[in-house]
Amino acid sequence: MTEAAVVARQTNDLDAFWLPFTPNRAFKRGPRLIARAKDMYYFTPDGRAVLDGLAGLWCSNAGHNRDPIVAAIQRQAATLDYAPAFQFAHADAFELASRVAALAPADLNRVFFCNSGSEAVDTALKIALAYHNVRGEGARTRLVGRERGYHGVGFGGISVGGIVNNRKFFGSLLTGVDHLPATYNREHQAFSRGEPEWGAHLADDLERIVALHDASTIAAVIVEPMAGSTGVLAPPKGYLERLRAICDKHGILLIFDEVITGFGRLGYAFAAERYGVTPDLICFAKGITSGAVPMGGVIARQGIYDAFMRGPEHVIELFHGYTYSAHPLACAAGIAALDLYRDERLFERAKKLEPLVADAAMTLKGVPNVLDVRTVGVAAGIDLASRPGAVGKRAYEVMERAFGEENLLVRVSGETLAVAPPLIVSEAQIAEIFEKLGRAIRAVV
Ligand SMILES: Cc1ncc(COP(=O)(O)O)c(C=O)c1O
Repeated sequence: MTEAAVVARQTNDLDAFWLPFTPNRAFKRGPRLIARAKDMYYFTPDGRAVLDGLAGLWCSNAGHNRDPIVAAIQRQAATLDYAPAFQFAHADAFELASRVAALAPADLNRVFFCNSGSEAVDTALKIALAYHNVRGEGARTRLVGRERGYHGVGFGGISVGGIVNNRKFFGSLLTGVDHLPATYNREHQAFSRGEPEWGAHLADDLERIVALHDASTIAAVIVEPMAGSTGVLAPPKGYLERLRAICDKHGILLIFDEVITGFGRLGYAFAAERYGVTPDLICFAKGITSGAVPMGGVIARQGIYDAFMRGPEHVIELFHGYTYSAHPLACAAGIAALDLYRDERLFERAKKLEPLVADAAMTLKGVPNVLDVRTVGVAAGIDLASRPGAVGKRAYEVMERAFGEENLLVRVSGETLAVAPPLIVSEAQIAEIFEKLGRAIRAVV
């Protein structure tokens, strides 16, 4: 479509669309519309170029509208629009699964596809429960999440998640869920680059939960290796190792939700590799297609898959799946995205950029109302001071100002701003992002 045609398609009726995770009335009074994208930029309908400081929503790791991904989607749309994955399959699904398995650590080599991070989390929780069940340990039904955790918006995800507003409106949620304490403590960790020194002992709380319920009732623990949506919290040094050791001791499965950390955000294909800790299940989504087509999935250790592969061969082993599992367009986009990550060495690039992101982000230390800046990989979280009685308003206004006046897209969650640009971001653009953000924070009093 030409630029003129894109502009002509501007909407004049904002009523019908109920925006997700958005204050709808405020948005519709001053909408922030995006018409197209290319590489590091979004373009508004009136033609402003907006620097993407958040890879869309933590997903466009290769940048936007990259030619090989666009071409792969176009080719697939003209070849195979849809194929059922229940009882049938197409070649790209097998290829993408093999490619994902090859990137995953150790014997995580069996890949179940779904369409989003939320579905990936529900899938992983269900696999964990069913795994114990098929092995004759059906009493292991309890799930353990973590305060401040974000695992999407399915009932499983909000039950193990730990963000109060995502939970409190939605009834009793899943029963039998406990939460580890959040790993963040400003007093001990403010202005951390990478993994904070303080906090590994917080993993020991799992022993308290085991002592309370008995290990024989606990199926799985799920954590984000780096908690992204709550504001970029890197794991304290040694924390994930301790969690792994306690899970091993008690036969509890460890699930890493790598929906944000997967595909390069922390300089590795998966954070499990960065931290040298092998979980039993990995949830992924977002970066698998660089955001171009919805897709998610779960990678399981071979032993978990094998536990299901018994009984009569005509019987379904796992009663779970989605109409759009391994959708042909998503598989094509996924293969093309993985090719791009490999050919442009984007995970290594993220590792190289990590200190530059940290240096640039730390220039915000000392700016009025900035309480903390944290960085890890190509990601930063900036906490602002709340105005009395209006938690989140200052950060929201900074996000609005960044978009409107500074031509910068960042994310706001509560009183935290998050930055996580595509991994193709240039060194100059990293500096630009934090200069723009600094100006926006200073301008909002
Ligand atoms: C760690 C994590 N898990 C799950 C999700 C949910 O993904 P989706 O919005 O694709 O359902 C997200 C989204 O940000 C996430 O960060």
